[in-house]
Amino acid sequence: MIPKTIYTRPIWLDSDHQTLKVIDQRLLPHTVSVLNLKTADDVIMAIRDMVVRGAPLIGVTAAYGVYLSVMNSKTQDNPENYLKQECSRIKSSRPTAVNLVWAVDRMLERLSGIKTLLGRIEAARQEAEIITETEVENCRRIGIHGLSLLQRIADEKPGKPLQVLTHCNAGWLACVEHGTATAPIYAAFEAGMDIHVWVDETRPLNQGARLTAWELGQRGVSHTVITDNAGGHLMQHGLVDMVIVGSDRATRTGDIANKIGTYLKALAARDNNVPFYVALPSSTFDWNLTNGLLDIPIEVRNPDEVRYVQGLANNTLSRILISPEDSPAANYAFDVTPARLITGLITERGICRSDEADILRLFPEHSQSQ
Ligand code: MRU
Repeated sequence: MIPKTIYTRPIWLDSDHQTLKVIDQRLLPHTVSVLNLKTADDVIMAIRDMVVRGAPLIGVTAAYGVYLSVMNSKTQDNPENYLKQECSRIKSSRPTAVNLVWAVDRMLERLSGIKTLLGRIEAARQEAEIITETEVENCRRIGIHGLSLLQRIADEKPGKPLQVLTHCNAGWLACVEHGTATAPIYAAFEAGMDIHVWVDETRPLNQGARLTAWELGQRGVSHTVITDNAGGHLMQHGLVDMVIVGSDRATRTGDIANKIGTYLKALAARDNNVPFYVALPSSTFDWNLTNGLLDIPIEVRNPDEVRYVQGLANNTLSRILISPEDSPAANYAFDVTPARLITGLITERGICRSDEADILRLFPEHSQSQ
């Protein structure tokens, strides 16, 4: 039995303002451990090795990485150049989640024109805090908009639980609080709705089985872990009322990149008339892109993540080889779900169709960018 966690956020700045604290998500759910990050190198390692992961959290971590770099620039001969270099290194720590580049650019914009070191440190800390709290508020709003949608779908099957399927982890661990895909689920649960979540295990790193299941269990939300390939079968048998996933990058035309396997869930959902929703904050839109398949960079990670699995063996966290020792493996970390397979997007400004006109109805300030 895993004890209740005392943590409500996966990231926070220590009271000394020198150390960024993060929950080490590589070890969950079996070990809850907090890591101290003090430099851009620490932040880059944390993002690259997935100590922290999930698009909004990657953005927030990167923002604090810029803050730490500003602080560490005080010992450098050319602090401005140093900061530029550190920012470009932070930006290239993972390629797919656009929140990373968005957050670093926003930090740099806030710092431009501020000349004194003390002024720059203070502005960087404030901006990282604003980015954090804005993401929390946006996720809260996604929960409110999503709740009315879940209520509508639940009303169509009175007396029966609402069955939601999700892929990967788009919960508070991925986002600071509430989550994106999980925000409507938590809102529904708190409103007393009878809800059950099918949790895709999400190979190779099992963010569903390890992280989403842990989050839902901690809150008391009814859930069942399934293999990645079970969703289609469940849909064929009427056991899924809707799918909600998060996203790492969305085009202005409504294509979305998310954890590998999302596309197959969307195909199965379409074939079975199951509504397929994507929950995402505005920081996940790449307003310059129009074609997800051609334009969104897909991360390819170390094949050993496919060849090995990690879990508890005799009460010790262990890594076990599952494929023949000499079989090559390939590790595509994300895929793109085309807009045509998406029933709707749940954003902080409301729910829209996954097409350019309806997205821009909610975000008219981006009508000109491209
Ligand atoms: O590789 P990860 O764990 O960073 O991938 C995370 C996902 O694919 C999430 O679904 C996505 O970032 C949305 S998080 C709200």
